[in-house]
Amino acid sequence: MEFSARMITDPGQTKTGCAVAPIFSGKKLSPPAAQLDASSGGLVSSALANGELIGKAGQTLLLTGQRDAGIRRILLVGCGPAGKLNEKVARKIIDALIKALQASRARNAFLFMEPIQGDKFSYGRFSCLLASAATLAAYRYRETLSKPTALPRLQKILLATSSAGASRACNSKLLQGQQIGNGINRARQLGNLPGNICTPSYLAEQARKLDKGEDQFSTRILDEKQMRKLGMGALLSVSAGSTEPARLIVMHYKGAAAAQAPYVLVGKGITFDSGGISLKPGAKMDEMKFDMCGAASVFGVMQAVLAMQLPINIVGIVAAAENLPSGSASKPGDVVTSMSGQTIEVLNTDAEGRLVLCDALSYAERFKPAAVIDIATLTGACVVALGAHASALYSNNDRLADQLGRAGETCHDRVWRMPLWEEYQKQLNTPFADMANIGGPAAGSITAACFLARFTKKYRWAHLDIAGTAWRHAPKAATGRPTGMLLQYLMDRAGAGS
Ligand code: BES
Ligand code: MN
Ligand code: ZN
Repeated sequence: MEFSARMITDPGQTKTGCAVAPIFSGKKLSPPAAQLDASSGGLVSSALANGELIGKAGQTLLLTGQRDAGIRRILLVGCGPAGKLNEKVARKIIDALIKALQASRARNAFLFMEPIQGDKFSYGRFSCLLASAATLAAYRYRETLSKPTALPRLQKILLATSSAGASRACNSKLLQGQQIGNGINRARQLGNLPGNICTPSYLAEQARKLDKGEDQFSTRILDEKQMRKLGMGALLSVSAGSTEPARLIVMHYKGAAAAQAPYVLVGKGITFDSGGISLKPGAKMDEMKFDMCGAASVFGVMQAVLAMQLPINIVGIVAAAENLPSGSASKPGDVVTSMSGQTIEVLNTDAEGRLVLCDALSYAERFKPAAVIDIATLTGACVVALGAHASALYSNNDRLADQLGRAGETCHDRVWRMPLWEEYQKQLNTPFADMANIGGPAAGSITAACFLARFTKKYRWAHLDIAGTAWRHAPKAATGRPTGMLLQYLMDRAGAGS
């Protein structure tokens, strides 16, 4: 997709596959709608007179039958009452607009939407939301299809503005929106890839590809031997049953002075989770290829911050392993020693996410982080608690939790805070180790977070359980969440918000 903003005075004089104008509720046509009406010989006003569109937010009407070859189609988009726009309504309008544009079969479009700006909503913000939504709508999974699905025809969106200054502002917001969309698409693509392609080594390769040898970005890939030396017995107990070796992938983005403490993201990268010896039931087991969606969001974020050149330091860590049963796999009852020195009784080999994360979280200490956020498809219990609308948020720091909550609201990739109370901790007690890796049937998402909390006492930390938000079931597809929310959080910290 290509995006660009331009100063234009008369929409009627442009050449485009589709001219798009807002229709507000009420009788009066917006200036661009009136100009298109004039240049099309009254197409717009007669459609409105016929009652085909009443200006409700999210309504669309495509007018074809244009004689004038300059403008092939006109798309009218209902925007509700003029001047009353907010984020929520704008998202609805943008989604409808893009859907109608894709259905129109136009290759390019010219948007004359400037009149939608109001006190609480700028055309710049519209530009950012539009570019990210259009970039997301252009994504198709094609990697493993012998006859790849066709890509949408819509390739180019131009945005009309009334001044050169507005064009400059909108252009930078279009670019930002596109970078966010590309980051989210990156996470979707990695999530959608099958487990036989997207292995821990494949993920390591993706990190190397981001690393162009510049000082600003560096990668370090730890193999099993190096992890053993660091004492990562918990992480290594997960990959023990698989012939695919585990990898700890570290990506370092330096956008600010070295003295500035970095934000550290830690992603669960289980490239396939069979459950191990505590084998999962067969139905829907294929969906456990999505068990690396936390890692995928870390890759999406790293790609986007690099493109945006955010002026902060960020470390992305991915704990990548495959969880399979075999003669060399961990067994229920095995006791392993984590990098922190704490011992863990593996009562259920299917609670493997926390085992790889705890060692990655101990490794994160060395960066003296400003904050550490881990992202993981950690528990089925989280899906029961929150479903698909919110990721679970846990934190040992109220300020960090609030910042993440606000970032989620801003980009509509929401989180909901859950308790980390001390009382839950005793569910992890066992006579045979410092802790068990499961806390029984009650409060499963919380006890998983409580487990991680034992490894994150030295820094400000938040945990996102994305088991319910990272992918959809019908049709099956990775959503890319919470890449957008993490990017918003980091952009807010860098002063580059919205
Ligand atoms: N990757 C799963 C969590 C999961 C399950 C995410 C279903 C999305 C849908 C995780 O590794 C897991 O198996 N967790 C167990 C933990 C249990 C053994 C304490 C679970 O949730 O059943
Ligand atoms: Mn599991
Ligand atoms: Zn898992």
